[in-house]
Amino acid sequence: MLAACILTFLTAASVAFAAPSPKTRCNTSKDTLVMPSTANSGSLPLVAPPAGGPSFIGVGVGVQNYTCASTGTYSSTGAVAELFDVSCLPEPTFSMITTLAYDVWKDAPKGVTVQSVINGLAALQPAFVLGQHYFIVNPLTGSGTSPKWDFTSASEAGNPNAFVVGAKTGDVPAPTNPTTNVDWLSLKGVQGELATAIYRMDTQGGQPPASCTPGTPDISVRYSSLYMLYGSSV
Ligand SMILES: *[C@@H]1O[C@H](CO)[C@@H](O)[C@H](O)[C@H]1NC(C)=O
Ligand SMILES: *[C@@H]1O[C@H](CO)[C@@H](O)[C@H](O)[C@H]1NC(C)=O
Repeated sequence: MLAACILTFLTAASVAFAAPSPKTRCNTSKDTLVMPSTANSGSLPLVAPPAGGPSFIGVGVGVQNYTCASTGTYSSTGAVAELFDVSCLPEPTFSMITTLAYDVWKDAPKGVTVQSVINGLAALQPAFVLGQHYFIVNPLTGSGTSPKWDFTSASEAGNPNAFVVGAKTGDVPAPTNPTTNVDWLSLKGVQGELATAIYRMDTQGGQPPASCTPGTPDISVRYSSLYMLYGSSV
């Protein structure tokens, strides 16, 4: 049901904007990343993107995970999301598509898991799937976790280097509804050839409640966001 809704909107979007045939990404060299009004707020300002356009532009649909710390606040334990290619859509629609995806996803029944959405969408609309975003043990230190974007099972199948592990370079509040929408981020690639810089922009949802009762179960909060990946050598 949810998958069908998102499929409908993705199909409508691609028809509306006359996207080329499946599996064809569009040239993103003219697309630009617009820094938010909050780019310089806080202790870790966003790092400006490398020159030239992004290599990949995807909308991520998934969950941000949290555990309740002994202090009574949630702390992040990672995320899992599926990335859909939007390179063939006009740039002004990127944030609209992210919002549309979130509006469908946030209202889906509680029992709809992120994995069922990922599996459903991937089966229904393989041409739009760029790949997956998830967390792994930090490969440089062997402790803690690192975000990874992995296209090796989808759009770049056959290329074992089509992944990137990121390290945060910037982290600022979302310019709108920052208690609901997760921070906007810049990251640098520390492993893999998929990108040298990663941006999480136009976030919708994903923030945990302000407080929690220690001992209560971990939670997953639905979100969507735009991901821009720069400097790919795959
Ligand atoms: C993308 O477009 C730019 C400028 O229009 C061009 O220089 C570049 O070769 C194109 N890239 C591909 C892969 O077609
Ligand atoms: C996040 O939670 C989902 C379930 O909602 C789970 O499938 C996924 O593996 C979790 N990922 C991380 C990194 O915690």
